[in-house]
Amino acid sequence: MIIAPSVLSLDFTKFNEQLQILEESQATWCHFDVMDGHFVPNLTYGPIILEAVKKVSTLFMDVHLMVNEPRKFVDMFVEAGADQLTFHYEACDNEQEIMDLIDYIHNQGVKVGISIKPDTPKEALDPYFELVDLILIMSVEPGFGGQSFIESSLEKIKYAKSKINELKSRALVQVDGGINDKTIKLVRDSGVDVAVAGSYIFNQDILKAVDSLLKR
Ligand code: DX5
Ligand code: ZN
Repeated sequence: MIIAPSVLSLDFTKFNEQLQILEESQATWCHFDVMDGHFVPNLTYGPIILEAVKKVSTLFMDVHLMVNEPRKFVDMFVEAGADQLTFHYEACDNEQEIMDLIDYIHNQGVKVGISIKPDTPKEALDPYFELVDLILIMSVEPGFGGQSFIESSLEKIKYAKSKINELKSRALVQVDGGINDKTIKLVRDSGVDVAVAGSYIFNQDILKAVDSLLKR
C-alpha cells in the first residue's frame, strides 16, 4: 500500500523540516489538498506553495482539487509540478465535461484521478474506471482534516476495486479522510491501494506514524 501524507496537516512553521522527514519515511506520495472556498467552505493554498514543496521533496505530487471549475486550475498546477491531478465528480456538470477534462489533463502529461464525496453514489464512477489512473473515495466530507472516518466508504472502495479488476483497468483506489492506525486495517482489507493521512501523521512522530500505517 502507498501512504500519501497530506500537506494540509503539516506544521507550516516547520515546513522544510517536516518535508525532509517525509523524504526519509516510507511514504512515496505527497497529498496536496487544494480548496477554493466555494466547492468546500475552507481555503488552502495554490501553485506557489506546490512549487515550494517540490523544491524540497522528491515524492510523487498527488494534487487533490476540491474546487469548482477544475479545468481552470489544471495548467497552473501542472506548471507548478503536479504528477497527478484529482478532480471532483460533483464539480462537473455532465459526463462529456468529465471525459474532456480527463483527456485534457492526460494531454498535459500528468496522471488523472476522479473523486466522489461521501453522499455521491458509487455508480457515478461507472463511466470512468477505464479512463483514469486513480479513483479517490472520500471517507469524510471534504474541507477539513481531523474528521472521523465514514464507514460506508468501505463498500465504495470494494465496489471500485472489483470494477477495476473486472475491467482490467490500471486505476488505483485511494481513500482520504479519517485514516489512523485503526481505520487503516479496514481500508486495507477492503483493497485500497493508496491511503491519505493528515492529522494522524503530523500530530505525532512522523516516521513512526507512517510505519504504523504500513504494519499489518
Ligand atoms: C479533507 C482532505 C484530506 C485531509 C485528510 O478534505 O481532502 O486530505 O487532509 O485529513 P485527515 O487524515 O486528518 O482526516
Ligand atoms: Zn485530500
